[in-house]
Amino acid sequence: MKTILLIFGTRPEAIKMCPLVHKLKQYPNEFKTIVCVTGQHRQMLDQVLQIFNITPDYDLNIMQQGQDLYDVTSRVLIGLRDVLKEVNPDMVLVHGDTTTSTAAALAAFYQQIPVAHVEAGLRTGNIYSPWPEEMNRQITSRIATYHFAPTPLSKQNLLRENVSEEHILITGNTVIDALYMIVERLKNDVDLQKEQEQVLFKAGYDISRLSNGKRLILITGHRRENFGDGFIRMCTAMKDLSEKYPDVDFVYPMHLNPNVRQPIAEVFGKEEICNHQSSICNKSHKNFFFIEPLQYVEFVYLMEKSTIVLTDSGGIQEEAPGLGKPVLVMRDTTERPEALESGTVHLVGTDYDKIMSEVSTLLDDEVAYNNMSQAVNPYGDGRACERIVKYLL
Ligand code: UD1
Ligand code: UDP
Repeated sequence: MKTILLIFGTRPEAIKMCPLVHKLKQYPNEFKTIVCVTGQHRQMLDQVLQIFNITPDYDLNIMQQGQDLYDVTSRVLIGLRDVLKEVNPDMVLVHGDTTTSTAAALAAFYQQIPVAHVEAGLRTGNIYSPWPEEMNRQITSRIATYHFAPTPLSKQNLLRENVSEEHILITGNTVIDALYMIVERLKNDVDLQKEQEQVLFKAGYDISRLSNGKRLILITGHRRENFGDGFIRMCTAMKDLSEKYPDVDFVYPMHLNPNVRQPIAEVFGKEEICNHQSSICNKSHKNFFFIEPLQYVEFVYLMEKSTIVLTDSGGIQEEAPGLGKPVLVMRDTTERPEALESGTVHLVGTDYDKIMSEVSTLLDDEVAYNNMSQAVNPYGDGRACERIVKYLL
């Protein structure tokens, strides 16, 4: 029996690690599966744990309002010292590129515990874009012994850095396992779909607005390197687009990072960030809906209903192409070029003109839209967790 400790702390890590927790727990004679969350995120992490019905064995509960990178790194590192001593795992599994994952890998290394890295080998090559994630994942690769690369390209990146080929496994991305799980749940359950509609209504968006062919643009944003001017340009473009296309709905589930909300308030005005239904709200942009972060099931439901996704998120770049949704990525670089190559993703950066023109083209030009909305899935087939567990076995 081997003890496997999975450590994660933010919303996307949880979405991508929870299916793996479940898969490992199917082998109780082979693995003792222990989950430690750092709580780098709180509400957004707990939302995911609830959806996947996972109760962590350890919770460092480190989140502070407006925490910086020093806070997160040091609190995770120190917090894990005793957990690692107590659990004494045979292996630690970390995910991706957050500060939780790198600090956790380092904490394990300090006790000479082998680390396996899930979602390994993504690279932009620019250590400031995304920041600090590109450096986080490079450091984690250096520490890790086992590397679960989602695609052949991510494997190539690791080989270029002299990672030994026998320690790399191409698995697909576990986010597709999570996505398919939710899509399947939704498809087979009309009551669950109705539930999502009600939850969305309470959150501030009435999905029945789409029943007469109205189109929906789904927006998210949270990258640290975009804070400040980048976010102001993104918000200004969105505001102007919503005025140019009054018959299109814009829905923006806002990340809880205060740096995300501040520019929204600055560009739109505080009174616009209300979650009233448009009919009773006296805000001026009646087709723009700012809502709180959604539970994963609601978010997937909304992604399926959307026409275009406008985002700087990593995970959404992987999910939306699988649903046939064109994605405009508000970043200058991406570590996920596979969907760029297949044409469902375009990089628009935080350039006002580029965001305006690319969204307008997709809304006005049916051929351009159809070219981008072919469902492709370069990131996985829903069996990534199965491959990882087989390898560990
Ligand atoms: C973090 C990760 C980023 C990842 C993103 C996913 C780092 C450095 N950043 O960025 O790689 O893409 O999560 O969303 O690891 N907050 C809450 N409640 C929550 C979550 C956040 O209130 O549930 C607020 C807090 O004020 C917190 C702030 O957001 O201090 C920033 O959170 P933090 O995890 O430091 O950065 P993110 O921008 O979320
Ligand atoms: N997501 C969610 N609710 C939301 C917004 C996003 O559940 O309101 C999901 C989304 O489907 C994806 C993940 O959160 O799986 C992406 O998280 P985020 O954009 O915060 O982080 P990143 O992927 O950029 O690290």
